[in-house]
Amino acid sequence: ICGILCPKLDMEGLKVMVTAGGTRERLDPVRYLGNDSSGKMGFAIAAAAKARGAEVTLVCGHTTAQQPADIPVVRVESTCDLYDAVTSRAPEMDVIIQAAAPADYRFAVTYTEKHKKAHDGQPFVIELVENPDIAAAVGAAKKPGQTLVGFAAETENLHANAQKKLAKKNLDLIVANDVRQPGAGFNVDTNIATLITRDGLTDCPLQSKAELAETILDKVMELRAK
Ligand code: PMT
Repeated sequence: ICGILCPKLDMEGLKVMVTAGGTRERLDPVRYLGNDSSGKMGFAIAAAAKARGAEVTLVCGHTTAQQPADIPVVRVESTCDLYDAVTSRAPEMDVIIQAAAPADYRFAVTYTEKHKKAHDGQPFVIELVENPDIAAAVGAAKKPGQTLVGFAAETENLHANAQKKLAKKNLDLIVANDVRQPGAGFNVDTNIATLITRDGLTDCPLQSKAELAETILDKVMELRAK
C-alpha cells in the first residue's frame, strides 16, 4: 500500500540492466548442462527497480518463476548468448546487476542430432571448455558513473570467495549468498546474503527476495551518491 500511495522514485532517469535465470549449454537437441536458477532473485530486483522509476532491461536465461509485467525481456539460452546480450547493451546502462547463474563451461562439441548410446559399457567422456566471464568483461569495460553489481553463489568461504570476485570482476558491490543454507539461494522465495563493497560488509538475514532486492537497490543508490 505504501509503495502505491507514496512510491519511492529515487531511480527515475536511470537505465538498469538485470540478468536472471540460468543458462543452458546444449550437448545435442535433447540434452543440456544447466543449473537450478529460477529467476526469482533477478526478477525481484528488476520489479523493484522498475517500481522505483528506473528504465529496466531484463536479460534472462532459463527461468521458472513468474516474469514481472511491463519489463522488456531479452531471452537467451547459453552463456555465450548472455555474453553477447549483456556486453552489447552495457555501454548505455547506468546500473548493471548480474543475478543470473551462467554456466562456467560449455561442451567442446555440440551434436546436431541426438547422440546415440554406444552400448559398449565404456564411459562416455565429454570435453568441456571454459565460457567467457560476462561480469569480468563488463567490469573491464566499466564506464565512468556506472555501478556494477554481481552475485556470488558459494558453498564455502563465503566472504573470502566473494571478495575475490568483487576485485577480479571490478564490481562496486557483490551480493554473497551461501546457496547451501536453508532458505537461501536457488529456487526459493527467500535469501540470506552479505552485501560486500570495498568499504565493508552488511549482513542481510533471512528475508524475502523482494525485501533483499530493495536493500540491494538502497546500497546501489548509496554508492552512486558517493
Ligand atoms: O534465480 P534464483 O532461483 O532466485 O536463484 C538466485 C541465485 C542463487 C541464482 C542468485 O542469488 C545468485 O547467486 N546468482 C549468481 C550465480 C552465479 O553464477 O554465481 P557465481 O559465483 O558463479 O558468479 C559470480 C558472478 O559472476 C555472478 O554475478 C554471475 O552472474 C557472474 N558470472 C558467472 C559466470 C560467468 N561465466 N559469467 C558471469 O558473468
